[in-house]
Amino acid sequence: MITEEQVKQNLEEILVPGAMRSPVRLNLIRQIAVTDQKVAITLTSAALDSNAEDWIKSKISKALEHLGVNQTNVTFIPAAPKEVNDIGLVIAVMSGKGGVGKTSIAVNLAMALALNHKQVMVLDADLGLANIDVLLGLHPTYNLSHVLRGERSLEEVIVQGPAGIKVVPATSGLKKMVELAPAELVGLIRAFSEISFALDTLLIDTAAGISDSVVTFSRAAQAVIVVVCDEPASITDAYALIKVLSRDYGVERFHILANMVSSAAEGHELFDKFSRVTSRFLDVTLDFMGPVPYDEFLRKAIQRQKALVEMFPTSKGAMAFKKLAAKTDRWPVPNSASGHLEFFVERLIRFGSGN
Ligand SMILES: Nc1ncnc2c1ncn2[C@@H]1O[C@H](COP(=O)(O)OP(=O)(O)OP(=O)(O)O)[C@@H](O)[C@H]1O
Ligand SMILES: [Mg+2]
Repeated sequence: MITEEQVKQNLEEILVPGAMRSPVRLNLIRQIAVTDQKVAITLTSAALDSNAEDWIKSKISKALEHLGVNQTNVTFIPAAPKEVNDIGLVIAVMSGKGGVGKTSIAVNLAMALALNHKQVMVLDADLGLANIDVLLGLHPTYNLSHVLRGERSLEEVIVQGPAGIKVVPATSGLKKMVELAPAELVGLIRAFSEISFALDTLLIDTAAGISDSVVTFSRAAQAVIVVVCDEPASITDAYALIKVLSRDYGVERFHILANMVSSAAEGHELFDKFSRVTSRFLDVTLDFMGPVPYDEFLRKAIQRQKALVEMFPTSKGAMAFKKLAAKTDRWPVPNSASGHLEFFVERLIRFGSGN
């Protein structure tokens, strides 16, 4: 009688190309069923392409011949999402020009959502100087590169921010998503699939402009916020970003946020001006997410490494963030399967590899 343990032992000899670890060690095995001399194995395809799947199938059949197995069936299924890492909405915060307030908006929006009893995580995907951890006075010991190297779990990397938000600190690993080795990709999917909590919102603070990682994040996210200020460079660069994302990558819908405006009316005017130009030349849907006023309290809160909504809850800026939070709450949440973190990372990897 062939046992499941024997099957596993034989599979240990197979080293997945690139990853150089066995399907067992890569946690790809979902089920092993042994009946008489027949073995049926189900694996998760994770980040494997079809060539790799075929290669693994033939290696498995060969490895099991030694055991006297006369029929081996290998099936690949998509990485199975778990209930625990359910997630409502993945939102990427972007801008054409730098310094228009992406990080401030990602963090303050996250906190405003958290004050509404939402579970929120911010992924710092920007490598600029004003990192989220610096901004909030957090002192992370680890970042995503430790997860990619298999040294830490995602939960060990996440730091708790104010108002109960979770923060994944920045890493250079994310910048080069395309260059990650298969083992790292598998590790990343696994890291996200092992998260033992649910999230309502994952906010991604991206770098300014159009880099590979910005393109990847905008495609993997379910909603894209583009931050603009009322100055020519911010407007033209935001236009250029939307043009590339829509024309070359099929992103069709953008939520425009007018930051550092002097009044709500100015914010609306800015949006009208921007959407007139955009609708003339591009085939996209722009939605006005709202204005955030220029607010000295925002800078004061940052100097004290605190969030505005917590520190100065009645300031103009804090009120604006509360409105924005209420608005994102009403955005349609995609169906549950697409809402799993693990699925999001798969999309990251797929789009990051240029497919
Ligand atoms: N609504 C606002 N009122 C006042 N100051 C603001 C506002 N929004 C952002 N700022 C200030 O503008 C500066 C840039 O903001 P922030 O770092 O959030 O921009 P960013 O787009 O993330 O920049 P980068 O492209 O460098 O990542 C900061 O000093 C921040 O305090
Ligand atoms: Mg920033």
